[in-house]
Amino acid sequence: MVWVRSIFSFSLIVLLQQLANAQNRASACDFFQGRWVPDSSLSLYNSTTCPFIEREFACQKNGRPDLNYLKYIWQPLACNLVRFDGRDFLERFKGKSIMFVGDSLSRNQFQSLICLLYTSIPNAQYTVERVGDVSTVTFTEFGVKVMLDRSVYLVDVVREEIGRVLKLDSIEGGKLWKGIDTLIFNTWHWWYRRGPTQPWDYVQVGNQILKDMDRMAAFQRALTTWAGWVDSNIDPTKTMVFFQGISPSHYNGTDWNEPQKHNCLGQEQPLLGSTYPGGLPPALAVLKGVLSKIKKPVTLLDITNLSLLRKDGHPSKYGLGGPTVMDCSHWCLAGVPDTWNQILYNIVFEQVSHS
Ligand SMILES: *[C@@H]1O[C@H](CO)[C@@H](O)[C@H](O)[C@H]1NC(C)=O
Ligand SMILES: *[C@@H]1O[C@H](CO)[C@@H](O)[C@H](O)[C@H]1NC(C)=O
Ligand SMILES: *[C@@H]1O[C@H](CO)[C@@H](O)[C@H](O)[C@H]1NC(C)=O
Repeated sequence: MVWVRSIFSFSLIVLLQQLANAQNRASACDFFQGRWVPDSSLSLYNSTTCPFIEREFACQKNGRPDLNYLKYIWQPLACNLVRFDGRDFLERFKGKSIMFVGDSLSRNQFQSLICLLYTSIPNAQYTVERVGDVSTVTFTEFGVKVMLDRSVYLVDVVREEIGRVLKLDSIEGGKLWKGIDTLIFNTWHWWYRRGPTQPWDYVQVGNQILKDMDRMAAFQRALTTWAGWVDSNIDPTKTMVFFQGISPSHYNGTDWNEPQKHNCLGQEQPLLGSTYPGGLPPALAVLKGVLSKIKKPVTLLDITNLSLLRKDGHPSKYGLGGPTVMDCSHWCLAGVPDTWNQILYNIVFEQVSHS
């Protein structure tokens, strides 16, 4: 009798644990709420061993002297992230394709993912191809394609007789995104560009052609067009869709309680804790508003908070422009985008371990 009861209570406990785990997986673990904790193990790869990092992100090669920014790991509050395992990714993703679509912040994350995969396999075999705006790195032993489509606004910019027109309601570029297994979109950093680097002359909304308009409203309209594309083109049983979130810049020290600082040069430590004094960028609320109205499942890779805390993670003068141009928008590689990809890996493969 005693053993019957103990077997019974044992199975009951197992059952209850399984229920609790399933519940945690569904709700309790928010990978994006957390803090950076010191970790001496450095990043998952040494940037000098990854041939894919462009000069723009190659901080160490460009002479950045400190390595402190590589010595932190992201710790969610309610659970642990599984370490990124490149071989496991390639094996489970066999024959599939993943595409980043967006501006240079997408390129930043794309190069991080290629490095994470490339450095996980000794003598990884790969091919590189570029057709138009799409770059593809194929890990040939696994048939895994990692792709980048450069599309800074997601919606179309079309050359017409009057000049270059940013068409907020047109998304012909979306034909390149069909049939991809995992899509990760992003757009934000180009919306406030003006002057010689603004890549359009007019903006079209409906039938109206305007010289300019409220930029945040334009951003929202374009996102809504993109949301419509997702709703009419994505089959959720075949394709997972992510939005990268708003990657923050660090040019105003007031935001992190150093009002005398006007860029990120010399920052060697993240902010500790989970709160960024400067608060969240307003674009994030606009993005969340659009995502809340989309009918198909789209996961926000909500990297804004964790990246806001990393004022130390940007190239500063160790980027493309050298000492004269301060880059506090992009991220060094190895670096912060590796964590974005680690979280992506945890979501895609549902690798949750509970603490
Ligand atoms: C990466 O490797 C190079 C060459 O072996 C070495 O000089 C450098 O210190 C390493 N960097 C890190 C962050 O381990
Ligand atoms: C920095 O941020 C503060 C607080 O938001 C703002 O008052 C100030 O104008 C900003 N400085 C610059 C140079 O943009
Ligand atoms: C994100 O950061 C903002 C500003 O610091 C804070 O108010 C908010 O609680 C944070 N959210 C999460 C999910 O950590």
